[in-house]
Amino acid sequence: MIYEPSEDSFLLQKTLKKFLKNKNKSLSILDMGSGSGIQAQTCISLGFKKTLAVDKNPESIKILTEKKINAVRSNLFSKIKIKKFNLIIFNPPYLPEDPREPKDSQLVTTAGKEGYEIIIKFLKQATSQLKSEGKILLLFSSLSHPKIILKNAKSLGYNYQLISKEKIPFEELYVYEFSLKNS
Ligand SMILES: C[S@@+](CC[C@H](N)C(=O)[O-])C[C@H]1O[C@@H](n2cnc3c(N)ncnc32)[C@H](O)[C@@H]1O
Repeated sequence: MIYEPSEDSFLLQKTLKKFLKNKNKSLSILDMGSGSGIQAQTCISLGFKKTLAVDKNPESIKILTEKKINAVRSNLFSKIKIKKFNLIIFNPPYLPEDPREPKDSQLVTTAGKEGYEIIIKFLKQATSQLKSEGKILLLFSSLSHPKIILKNAKSLGYNYQLISKEKIPFEELYVYEFSLKNS
C-alpha cells in the first residue's frame, strides 16, 4: 500500500515550502520514504530539479517513476550512490508497533516497537550523507518519544530546532530541522 498524504504530509509540505523560499535551485535534495511523492513533487515544482526520491516499497517506486520523479528503491540509505545532499526530508513511519495492524500498513506507519527506532537509524546513517551546512527536515509525533529521539540526535552530533508543530486528535506532530554541529 502507498501512504495517502495526510496531516503529517501536509505539515511537512508546508514547512518545506517555507524552507525552500529564496534557496538556490541547484540544491541537491533527497526525499526519504517518498511514498506518493508529495514532498519530492513539491521540490520539483518549485524548481529544485536535483531531487531524488527513495522508498523501500516497490509500489511506491512504480508510482514515483510514473510521475517522472527520479526514484530509487532502498532501505534508508543502503542503495544510495550519491553520497552527500544539501537537504534531506523525511516523513517516516513514526508510530509504536500495534500487532493488530496488517504488515503492509505497518511499513508506512510503524517505526518499531517503541515508535522511534527507524528515526534514530535514519539520523545515524544521515550523518555521512549531508553536505557541510546541509539540513534535515524530519517529522515525528508526540507518540514517537521525542525526548529519546532528540537525546540520540545530540549524541550523534546534531544541532536541532523545532520549526513547525500541529495538534491533531490523539497526538501532536513536530517538524525539526537538524544540522551537524561541525558544519
Ligand atoms: C508516513 S509515509 C510518508 C510518505 C510521504 N513522504 C508523505 O509525506 O506522505 C512513510 C514512507 O516511508 C517508507 N519507508 C518505510 N520504511 C522505510 C525504509 N526503511 N527505507 C525507505 N523508506 C521506508 C514507506 O514505504 C512510506 O512510503
